[in-house]
Amino acid sequence: MNTSQSPISGKIPRHVAIIMDGNGRWALKRGLPRLAGHKAGTENLRRIIKACVEFGVKYLTIYAFSTENWGRPQEEVTGLMRILEDVIDRELGELNEQGVQLRHIGRLERLPAFLQEKVLHAIELTRTNDRLIINIAFNYGGRDEIVHAIQQIIRDGVAPEEVTPELVSRYLYTAGTPDPDLIIRTSGELRISNFLIWQAAYSEWYVTPTYWPDFDKEEFRKALEEFSRRDRRFGKVTSAEYEESRA
Ligand code: IPE
Ligand code: IPE
Ligand code: MG
Repeated sequence: MNTSQSPISGKIPRHVAIIMDGNGRWALKRGLPRLAGHKAGTENLRRIIKACVEFGVKYLTIYAFSTENWGRPQEEVTGLMRILEDVIDRELGELNEQGVQLRHIGRLERLPAFLQEKVLHAIELTRTNDRLIINIAFNYGGRDEIVHAIQQIIRDGVAPEEVTPELVSRYLYTAGTPDPDLIIRTSGELRISNFLIWQAAYSEWYVTPTYWPDFDKEEFRKALEEFSRRDRRFGKVTSAEYEESRA
């Protein structure tokens, strides 16, 4: 039976964040250059964005390039910059028509000037859209984000007793975005790799061995359905346990 059109049963995460990993291994398995894997990964992203709109996910954060990824061979780094440029050129019009708002998280300054301009243009063009908000984490690192926040807090002369978790959240690149409910990591690695280290405090995790280019809508649905069965306690007890303890 084709289940593609059936709605997700249960609660939908408001914010899904994805560590899109495994592009290189996907390519290697096929005897292709790593950049072919990154291109295939980009094609897949288009499918997952569509699925987010269909399933009613409101925020999607995608990890596209980490502050540590600069350490890869120059050819791969340049190729990844070019892919971001191509994606903006090819997809911006359609994303805008679909009501997608694009945001960027990370340090824009280190990207080539032409790419910074493209990203800023995409943000400006889509800023009033609200069907799906996509944070593109490009030159993003969680530690860098926290350091940047601390620098800003000090610059603003915030008094120590005014520093609260809520205030810190407002100084992060993700200010205004709710914390991720669900974080998906493809390709099986069991680590955070400097992604949303503050925001992930109570996120649910879904890790799959599937490489990112093969992570399709059906597997995305599976992740959402598993999420809907999770019991999120946030350090407390479930309401059922609470009632039982009082009986
Ligand atoms: C994820 O795929 C994309 C980026 C980090 C840019 P990888 O390139 O890390 O793929 P693997 O982990 O080498 O297979
Ligand atoms: C995390 O993947 C970064 C992105 C997906 C952009 P990596 O492949 O860079 O992470 P490690 O090196 O396996 O931890
Ligand atoms: Mg990787």
